[in-house]
Amino acid sequence: MKTQLLSQAVLNFTIRGKVSRTVLPLHGVILLVGEPGTGKTSLARGLAHRTALAFQGGRFRLLEVEPHTLTSSAMGKTQRAVSDLFSQAIAEAASQGPTIVLLDEVETLAADRSKMSLDANPIDIHRATDAVLVQLDALADRFPELLFVATSNFPDAVDSAFTSRCDLVLRIPLPDREACGRILKDCLAGLGQTFPSIGRLASAPGFDRCAAECVGLDGRAIRKMVANALASSPQTAVNPDQVTLENIFAAAKSAKANRSPEARSK
Ligand SMILES: Nc1ncnc2c1ncn2[C@@H]1O[C@H](COP(=O)(O)OP(=O)(O)OP(=O)(O)O)[C@@H](O)[C@H]1O
Ligand SMILES: [Mg+2]
Repeated sequence: MKTQLLSQAVLNFTIRGKVSRTVLPLHGVILLVGEPGTGKTSLARGLAHRTALAFQGGRFRLLEVEPHTLTSSAMGKTQRAVSDLFSQAIAEAASQGPTIVLLDEVETLAADRSKMSLDANPIDIHRATDAVLVQLDALADRFPELLFVATSNFPDAVDSAFTSRCDLVLRIPLPDREACGRILKDCLAGLGQTFPSIGRLASAPGFDRCAAECVGLDGRAIRKMVANALASSPQTAVNPDQVTLENIFAAAKSAKANRSPEARSK
């Protein structure tokens, strides 16, 4: 999946300047969707770095947009803020060279207009979505060396005209058995830098059983579960070095049992 993502990002910068949009209607937008904590934001940030490396470390710029800072309760302000952001800040960065823009939690900006009733939802948001679409088209025309990487937990809440403009929509799944093992190992190794005996748990018998018990948790939940294991008792909390694989197994089991029924059914 990472290779597919990287290749699509690289292609954006190799082809869009050279091939007409009537032949390949690329907008320079990649959307990552998936449950909370599956690593979408981290992946998007890493992508910018890896794309730059693919071009021998060419000068890439990374901008991060937090849509929440744009939405305002005052009527009409959001649409204006969105237009200004795209037509000024992003356009200025893009005019100076290859640019990647992280649009985190894009459903707040490009909310599905067909799902909102005009009395329940501010018309302002409706206009903000229109503004995003208009600006995306304009930027795609002007700047072939611009790539948006958008993320969302709620793909159904993203406007279909936005999704239609995405060159690739990638669903980030929960980590499988092997990925759970790698996340857990990485977490224990990181702790091992401060608490060496925790680091050794990653290669101790019983590790695989713990990794298997993590299946069903997202990456963030796995790391939080390790913190819960360190807090298994006041003793381990004072001396985290005393944590055992039994503690980790129990914490993983309990983290899964306490997941919301909605998350568990997925
Ligand atoms: N696949 C993974 N490998 C390693 N660590 C992961 C992975 N997925 C999540 N994590 C851990 O979880 C943390 C949260 O990940 P991130 O913020 O990228 O998730 P997200 O999908 O953007 O979540 P949200 O939808 O809630 O914004 C990361 O800092 C990392 O520690
Ligand atoms: Mg995120």
